[in-house]
Amino acid sequence: MAQIEQLERAGLEAIERAATSDELERARVAHLGRRAPLPNLLRSVAQLDGDRRALVGAAANRARRALEQAVERRSAQLSAQELHARLVAEGVDVTLPADPRPQVGRLHLITQTRRQIEDVFVALGYEVVEGPEVETVHYNFDALNHSPTHPSRLPTDTFYLDRAGAPLDIFDPDAPLLRVHTSPMQIRAMEAQPPPIRVIVPGRVFRPDSDATHSPQFHQVEGLAVDEDITLADLKGTLLTFARAIFGEQREVRLRPHFFPFTEPSVEVDVSCFACAQGANGRCSLCRGTGWIEILGAGMVDPAVLGAVAEHGYDPERVQGFAFGMGVERIAMLRHGIPDLRLLYDNDVRMLEQF
Ligand code: PHE
Repeated sequence: MAQIEQLERAGLEAIERAATSDELERARVAHLGRRAPLPNLLRSVAQLDGDRRALVGAAANRARRALEQAVERRSAQLSAQELHARLVAEGVDVTLPADPRPQVGRLHLITQTRRQIEDVFVALGYEVVEGPEVETVHYNFDALNHSPTHPSRLPTDTFYLDRAGAPLDIFDPDAPLLRVHTSPMQIRAMEAQPPPIRVIVPGRVFRPDSDATHSPQFHQVEGLAVDEDITLADLKGTLLTFARAIFGEQREVRLRPHFFPFTEPSVEVDVSCFACAQGANGRCSLCRGTGWIEILGAGMVDPAVLGAVAEHGYDPERVQGFAFGMGVERIAMLRHGIPDLRLLYDNDVRMLEQF
């Protein structure tokens, strides 16, 4: 009996001493587990005789229940303590100031617009290619069928580059200049691959001009399609698809005769006004009451241009095609009602954040 009491005391002590749930579990196994002394003793009670069996059995059972209850109590205490400790450790201080909202950057409107234009033509099967900003008289003018007297060749209209003090000769085919349009890439693209070809050329171009609608540096997207049976109707259908994707499903396009040295016939392309009821409002600031807005220049590739790359497989008797060129800033300004092109280059975040 004294042994039972002693086992009980030792057990209770170990249970109370347990400082964590793990320690408590070890104490339980040591004192109540299958190989612990008290349960062992309980199993051997059967071998005792009569009165003694009843007495020892009852005492041992009582001791075991006491230990079991002690484990339960201590377990409840410890898990409450541990929960509390975890809540304190992992707690969030809701009174702290919140993290500042992150400043997420965005693409500049010119880049967004360029990519939207690219997407339209990529979906139509065009390849995007880029070319040099420093060009030569040959690629910028001669190969594009500009007559020697074309006024855009003059240094008032074209930035020529200084060649180590050599006198400027604007008729030297190798004279370097900043390209005034992306059209030189028509030539370079055809030199690089035989027909059929369908490319668009986004890029920076330069002209000595500066006012609300002209910047000395701006962006164009050139388009060129050459194959064996391309007509003006294909050009119109392509530009209609483009105009509807960029300016809205209800748009129509109109071609007006024009002149470019490298296309024949040449056209200026208008899109139906998307700001007013197509001419009903004589005061519309976008179309000035005409119902139409000019968006780009285009035309059928002049056979003389194909002739300049005939040795690359472009036989003007066999292939023909169309070309077009648009100003990215102009498209963005029309779409978003931006009144002054310089706003796109001032880098004022109050402006840029609106797009
Ligand atoms: N290069 C012309 C311009 O800058 C645009 C254009 C491109 C016109 C292709 C016709 C064909 O004004």
